[in-house]
Amino acid sequence: MSAVVMDGKALAAKVKEQVRQKAEKLSRRPGLAVIIVGDNPASRVYVNGKKKDCEECGFYSEEHALPGTAAQEELLELIAALNERGDIDGIMVQLPLPGQFNEQEVLRAIRTDKDVDCFHPYNVGKLMIGEKGFLPCTPAGVMRMLEEYGVDVAGKHCVVVGRSNIVGKPQSILMLQKHATVTICHSRTPDLAEQCRRADILVAAVGKVGLITADMVKEGAVVVDVAMNRNEQGKLCGDVCYEEVTKKASYITPVPGGVGPMTRAMLMENTLYAAVNHGK
Ligand code: GUN
Repeated sequence: MSAVVMDGKALAAKVKEQVRQKAEKLSRRPGLAVIIVGDNPASRVYVNGKKKDCEECGFYSEEHALPGTAAQEELLELIAALNERGDIDGIMVQLPLPGQFNEQEVLRAIRTDKDVDCFHPYNVGKLMIGEKGFLPCTPAGVMRMLEEYGVDVAGKHCVVVGRSNIVGKPQSILMLQKHATVTICHSRTPDLAEQCRRADILVAAVGKVGLITADMVKEGAVVVDVAMNRNEQGKLCGDVCYEEVTKKASYITPVPGGVGPMTRAMLMENTLYAAVNHGK
């Protein structure tokens, strides 16, 4: 039997259409400022995608591209100016930043009510205690996709592989809040395969081609692949050996076309949320 493929591209289009309809009713267009520093090709692709999403949702967007040689101070000044702007509801700084930057200081400089990535410690803290606010885009996109496909996480054993601040940690928190039992695995986990086999829902967020093989997946498990890698042939792929795992899983996300488009759709939802709050 082959798994049901969770179509993130189609679902993201539906979410963005709902966002567009809600945005249309506001007195002012939501505005997103996207900051990119340097010429990382992957970052360029992501930023172009976000600009397109804004157009689709009827948002105002502006891009600020700083050279890779820019100084921390320059970036902080730009953020300070955007913080003050009435037409900008959301500010996102594409990561990773070049080595000379103090990433945490940059993220803390963004006004918490414009922090549409949900990376500021204040918003991360609110997430941790379950207060209403911004949700981190990738984990929120995963939760929305599971919900849409009727996968209830309550009472399930979720295994999250990866402990990054962007995905692994917040993903675990969102699943916990929905009453799952959560195991977080990482590079020092002694028997990764054994842990993964216990998962009803397995989330792979490491960035390592071929990490999750079929023998690591329980028959009928739900498999979510958050990673975006390139294999030896230069083709986009995730952490999961898709061809073999799809035969064992009940639901699976493809790469590309799975979690990626959902992440972008959640950024649009967060920007709408910021704009609604700014209109109050
Ligand atoms: N780099 C990789 N993922 C992300 C993300 O979700 N937000 C930002 N700002 N940068 C990223």
